[in-house]
Amino acid sequence: MSTADEKINRGQEQDYEIDTLTNDRLISDHEYDGIRELDNDLPPWWTWLFVITIVFAIVYLIRLFVFSSDDLIQQSEYNKEMAQAASMLPSQIQTSAIEFKVLTDQTSLTNGKTIFDKICSVCHLMDGGGLVGPNMTDDHWIHGNTMEEMFNIVTNGVLDKGMISYKDQYSPQQRLEVLSYILTLHGSKPANPKAPQGDLKEWPY
Ligand code: HEC
Repeated sequence: MSTADEKINRGQEQDYEIDTLTNDRLISDHEYDGIRELDNDLPPWWTWLFVITIVFAIVYLIRLFVFSSDDLIQQSEYNKEMAQAASMLPSQIQTSAIEFKVLTDQTSLTNGKTIFDKICSVCHLMDGGGLVGPNMTDDHWIHGNTMEEMFNIVTNGVLDKGMISYKDQYSPQQRLEVLSYILTLHGSKPANPKAPQGDLKEWPY
């Protein structure tokens, strides 16, 4: 038998001696410095794991090259994500083309009040009288009282004065709702109104 054959068939063709104590199969003539080479069967869990990796590889290769399954090909995954990103664009463009109108329906005002009471009241107070932020019930406005001007403040904030940007937290619709609610506070009598700040504005604008 050639040496190549011997290598392939070693499992069957080797001469074994069985160690009487441990039942290990010892390969004849494979002993170095008193260390003897064994040729025991692999544990079943190892063999099965090996078989599973082969099956996995076959399935994977068939899906990839024969069926060109979408998810496995990076290019199509990339295309999918780009398409998804592109589909988000129009809504962002809409933000800049938003219609700045005061909402008067009850649902919008209720939604607006929920946001105001939870978030804005921390600085503008529940009744809009003002604390850190200015009084929302008087006729004076620092940045103007048209819906567009107010929307701009809520969207971008006035960071150095302590007014936060809410463009990531609230959708344009929600920003219109909370501002529309704020306008309903105009002319009310808050408990501790903050002194007017900014310019006197026409009302209603
Ligand atoms: C952390 C405190 C804080 C919170 C919370 C806050 N604001 Fe303000 N807000 C301010 C301050 C301070 C100013 C004044 C900015 C300035 O002086 O330029 C202000 C100004 C404003 C103005 C402009 C007022 C004017 O006179 O021109 C509007 C409108 C406004 N806030 C709306 C909101 C809304 C709506 C919310 C909730 C979503 C909110 N704010 C939450 C602190 C806050």
